[in-house]
Amino acid sequence: MPHARIGILTGGGDCPGLNAAIRAVAKTLINQHNAHVFGIHDGFQGLVYDRIKPLSYDDVSNILTLGGTLLGTSNKDNFFGVKRNESQRVKPGRTRLPKALKNVRRHRLNGLVCIGGDGTLTVAHHLHERGIPVVGIPKTIDNDVMHTDQTFGFDTAAWVAATAIDRLHSSATSHKRVMIIEVMGRSAGWIALQAGIAGGGDVILIPEISFSTEAVCRVIQKRFQKGRRFAIVVAAEGAYEKGRTPVWKRKAHGLSGISIRLAAHIERRTGIECRATILGHLQRGGEPTPFDRLLATRYGTHAAHLAAKGQFGRMVCLRNTDIQSIPLSAVAGQPRRVPLNSSLIQAARDVGTSFGEEV
Ligand code: F6P
Repeated sequence: MPHARIGILTGGGDCPGLNAAIRAVAKTLINQHNAHVFGIHDGFQGLVYDRIKPLSYDDVSNILTLGGTLLGTSNKDNFFGVKRNESQRVKPGRTRLPKALKNVRRHRLNGLVCIGGDGTLTVAHHLHERGIPVVGIPKTIDNDVMHTDQTFGFDTAAWVAATAIDRLHSSATSHKRVMIIEVMGRSAGWIALQAGIAGGGDVILIPEISFSTEAVCRVIQKRFQKGRRFAIVVAAEGAYEKGRTPVWKRKAHGLSGISIRLAAHIERRTGIECRATILGHLQRGGEPTPFDRLLATRYGTHAAHLAAKGQFGRMVCLRNTDIQSIPLSAVAGQPRRVPLNSSLIQAARDVGTSFGEEV
């Protein structure tokens, strides 16, 4: 049997652990399957514009701990004119599939390993359906990919956010202030929830539970009346006030600025000084945590074995402590949000954290 020829690409927003995953896929294919490996640069653009180059063992050595992605990425490609997330406009009927197919044939690729979030994996599913075999690997700091317990990148982002909250505590106490920290996550509140609990936030605002500014103000006032010298509000960028459109949906470039609006409101209403911090892309950069390196490596090796065996049309996933795989079709087009009966929400409530709901 001829040796397999597999292309690897990273799509969507970058996140810590992408290089660890690329390394794992490539090394496993080379070491265990004598395969020829190709790097596809800048996400799906590389497939369309033939930015496809051989990826050697040396190319992927010494990159385990590096942030970013060796292959480059893009989150601007609307390959099929399909809607990839709620914030994107759709241009129906436009497809660059023929160009991609031509390039796959030109390099005699047997298939692709696509590393991405829900948008990239949705496109990957469409590619697979239309004749380009794909194995998917879920990544994103947002942790919002369906049917996997965790995406890599999330642990690092939640750690960065929790450490930032720690730092805000001391400054808030010194000045008797309310600190509002805005974290990423688009329409899912995983980062805010996990970092908020780990950092001891007094109020956590997530898109899954709409909040009332009045209720948030009451929580803060109560704390200060009891003699506390600070309050920490952790707001997901997609959090929104009941009955209103989430601010991030009205913004062209990701970050919403909900924290800035909230700070102005709370200060006006309570008379307590407020400051807003938008953590932004700090959450996406830099070294992955050991957990993310491990998860990316486990996903990468599993995906490489699937691709080498010709088992395409699947996405690797984490179930409890096992790495398994599920059909890509099950993942496409549906983000995973925090369930309202999540034990994390309950744990936060149990320790007295408010979600800013009207009571
Ligand atoms: O999906 C990951 C994410 O970091 C979101 O949390 C955020 O809203 C978005 O990407 C920002 O993307 P951009 O790279 O366009 O700034």
